[in-house]
Amino acid sequence: MTTAAHPVVELAGVTKTYGEVEALKAADLVIRRGELLAVVGPSGSGKSTMLNIMGTLDRPTTGTVHIDGHDIDRLSDRELSALRAGTIGFVFQQFHLAPGVPALDSVANGLLYSGRPRGERRRLAERALRRVGLGHRLYHEPHQLSGGEKQRVAIARAVLGDPPLLLADEPTGALDSRSGAVVIELLHELHRAGTTVVVITHDRDIAGSLPREVRIKDGRIEEDATDAAGSTDAAGLLPEEALR
Ligand SMILES: Nc1ncnc2c1ncn2[C@@H]1O[C@H](COP(=O)(O)OP(=O)(O)OP(=O)(O)O)[C@@H](O)[C@H]1O
Ligand SMILES: [Mg+2]
Repeated sequence: MTTAAHPVVELAGVTKTYGEVEALKAADLVIRRGELLAVVGPSGSGKSTMLNIMGTLDRPTTGTVHIDGHDIDRLSDRELSALRAGTIGFVFQQFHLAPGVPALDSVANGLLYSGRPRGERRRLAERALRRVGLGHRLYHEPHQLSGGEKQRVAIARAVLGDPPLLLADEPTGALDSRSGAVVIELLHELHRAGTTVVVITHDRDIAGSLPREVRIKDGRIEEDATDAAGSTDAAGLLPEEALR
C-alpha cells in the first residue's frame, strides 16, 4: 500500500481537545518513509495524544491526518481498521501480553484474523521472535520473561506483518537501562531494514541518539530538529550479539 510518493504520516493543523483540555494545538508534522524520530516533552504535553492520532487509534478534533497517503477522515471505521492493520505496528510502555500465554502464541495471535492457517501463523511468529533475539524463549509465558524480553515479544508482535510504520510510546519506560538499550538497538535494526519508526521517550540520551527530534510542550510542537549528520547509528549502541 505504501509508495515512495507520499509521506507515511502527515498532520496538518491537528488539534485535539478533551473537554476543557487542549491536548494538541495546531500540530503540523510530516514523517517520510524510512525516518527514525523521537518525540519528547514533559508529562502531559500531548505526546501520546499525537501518537494515538498518528496511529489512527483516535481521530483529531480539527485538522487533517494523512496516513500512507490516505485522508483518514474519508475512511469508514472498517477501512480505517484495515489501513491500521496493514500499515501500523504499536509498542507501548506496558507490554500488554496476556498472562499465561506462551510468547509464540502471543505473537501468533496477532494474525488470528488474517485468514492464515494456524501453522503458518505460528511459523511467522517464530520467525518474528527469532528476529528480536528470542528464538530460545518461544514457550515462555510473560511471568517467565524479563521486562526487556517481554518488550521484545511485544515488538515481535508489532512487526509480524512487516508494517511500514512502527509507533512506540515509551517502549523503554518500564525497563532498566541495559534492557532499554537492547530495545532501542532493536528499533534501530528495524529502521535499517526499512521501517519508519516513531519513539516517544523521556530519555534524553535515547532522543539525542536518533536522527530527528520533535519536541512538544503544552500541546504545541516547539522544535523539530534533524541531525545534520543524519546519523542513525550513533555511537554507544549495543552490538548485535546483545540481542541473541
Ligand atoms: N481521554 C482523555 N480525557 C481527558 N483528558 C485527556 C485524555 N487523554 C489525555 N488527556 C489530557 O491531555 C493532555 C495530554 O495527554 P498525553 O497523554 O498526550 O500526554 P503525554 O505527553 O503523553 O504525557 P506522559 O509523558 O505523562 O505520558 C494531558 O493534560 C491529559 O491529562
Ligand atoms: Mg504519554
